[in-house]
Amino acid sequence: MKWNDYKSKKLKNPEFKQAYDELELKYSIMNKKFVKMMNRREFIKKVIGGGFLLASGNLFSGCGEISDGDGMIYESTDKKISDLEISNLRQLITSNANETRCIMWQTDALLKNPAVEIKSDATGDTYTFAALDCSFSDDDHITNQYSAKIEALHADTSWQYRIVDGEHCTNWHTLRTTSGDTFKMLIFPDSQCADYGVWNKVAKSAYARNEDAVLFVNVGDIVDNGEDRTQWQAWFNGAAAFIDKIPFVPVMGNHECYNRQWQTRLPEAYLKYFEVPDNGSDNFERRYYSFDYGDVHFAVLDSQWEELNAVKDGAGDELIQAQQEWLRRDMSTTTKKWKVVFIHKDVLQYRINGRPERREGFSDIGTAFMPLFDELKIDIVFTAHLHTYRNRGNIYNFERNSKGTLYILTGLAGDVRYSGLWVDHALDLAKAPQPETDNYLTLEVSSDKIYVKCFLPDGTEIDRAVVKQREQKT
Ligand SMILES: [Fe+2]
Ligand SMILES: [Fe+2]
Repeated sequence: MKWNDYKSKKLKNPEFKQAYDELELKYSIMNKKFVKMMNRREFIKKVIGGGFLLASGNLFSGCGEISDGDGMIYESTDKKISDLEISNLRQLITSNANETRCIMWQTDALLKNPAVEIKSDATGDTYTFAALDCSFSDDDHITNQYSAKIEALHADTSWQYRIVDGEHCTNWHTLRTTSGDTFKMLIFPDSQCADYGVWNKVAKSAYARNEDAVLFVNVGDIVDNGEDRTQWQAWFNGAAAFIDKIPFVPVMGNHECYNRQWQTRLPEAYLKYFEVPDNGSDNFERRYYSFDYGDVHFAVLDSQWEELNAVKDGAGDELIQAQQEWLRRDMSTTTKKWKVVFIHKDVLQYRINGRPERREGFSDIGTAFMPLFDELKIDIVFTAHLHTYRNRGNIYNFERNSKGTLYILTGLAGDVRYSGLWVDHALDLAKAPQPETDNYLTLEVSSDKIYVKCFLPDGTEIDRAVVKQREQKT
C-alpha cells in the first residue's frame, strides 16, 4: 500500500488499521535513530508536566487529516551531510500557529526517508518529524512533494529546522511561534503576472521593509493560469526570500481554476501545493479554512462557486451553503478578540467605463456573505480580484455605518493592470493613486487596535485604516 492511498483512506477507517500497524512497525525498524516510543498524549503530558521545552515527533506527520492519531516520538542526535537538494521549501499556516506548523517542499529525486528536524534555539535539543509523500501529477508533470506537521511547539519560541533524508540534510532555516497578541502580517493582492519579475520585486520589497512580519497572505489569483507549473515556480521564486521563514496563508482565486486552454477546471495544483487546515468537509476539503494567530481568528473563504458550477452543475451552489453554515459555526465558537476574513472576489459591484448598462451595487459575493459578516461581527474583510485598491470604510446592512465591518479591496501585486476600468463606488473612501501600479498591505495587531496600511512597492504609505475593538466603537 502506498502512502498516498493510505492517507486518502484517512487512517481513521478501522479496515486500514492493520496496514497502519504494519507500516508503523516497518518504519520503526528502518529508523535506527529513534530513541523512544510513546503515545502522543503521554508525551505531551510529560513535556508539559516537566515544565521544559521539548517538541514531539510524530512518525506519520503530514499536514493533513491523520495528525490526530497516536505516533512515535524520536530524538535525533546524529551528524548529517548537508547536500540534500530541495526546492520551494515553505511554511504553511495551521489551525493554531502558536503550537503547530506545516512544512512542505519539493525534490527532483524521490526521498527514501523524508523528515523535518527541528532544533530549539533555547536548549539545542533536536527532534524529528517524519514527512508524508504528497506528490501529484498536473500539467503533464509529476511534482515530487512532501509535507510534515510540526507539533507541540510553545508560544514565543524560536527554532531552526532542516529537511533530512537518511544521512543527508539541507541547511538550517528559521521558524518562530507567535509572541503574544501583537504581530504584523503582510498582505499581497492578486500576484498573477505576464512577467513574474514584477511580483518578485513587490514581494521582496515588501518583506525587506517588513522583516518583522510573522505571516503573509495572498488574496487569490496567485498565478494567472492555475495549470501552468512554470507560473507556480515563478510565484514561489518571488516568495523565496521569506516563505521558508514565515507561514503562508493561501487564498484561492478564479485564476487558480483555469487550465492551459483557459477553460474552467478544478483548482488541482492549488489544492496540492498548499495543505491548509482541515475544514471538516468531505466535498470541499482545503477550499476554505480558519486559523488562529495571536488574538485573531482568521477565516479564508472560497468565492469560486461560479467556476465550480461550470465544472459540476450545482456544486458551486452547495459550496455557498456549506461555507455559510461552516462560517457561522466557526466564527460563533471562537473566543479570540478579533475576527478577520479573506475572500478573493469583491463584495461590491462597480460600474465599468464604457458599459453604461452595468449598475453600481453589491456583487453576488456581497449578497451571499455581507449579512453573515454583520451577524458574526467580523472586524475586517479583505477582498481582491478587481486589481484596484479601495478602502470602503465600515459597512453594515449594506450601508455606511461605523459599527459595521471594514471592507478593504486590496489592489494588485502583479502586472495585470485594469487602468481606468472601474468607476468609483459611492462606498469608496480612498483609492490608490491613478493610474494604478502595484501595492502591498500590512495588518498590524496591537492589544486594542488593528492598523491596516497600504503601501506602494517603494514603501510609500498611500492609505491606512484603524479598527478598534467592538465595544470601543461608537
Ligand atoms: Fe485577478
Ligand atoms: Fe480574480
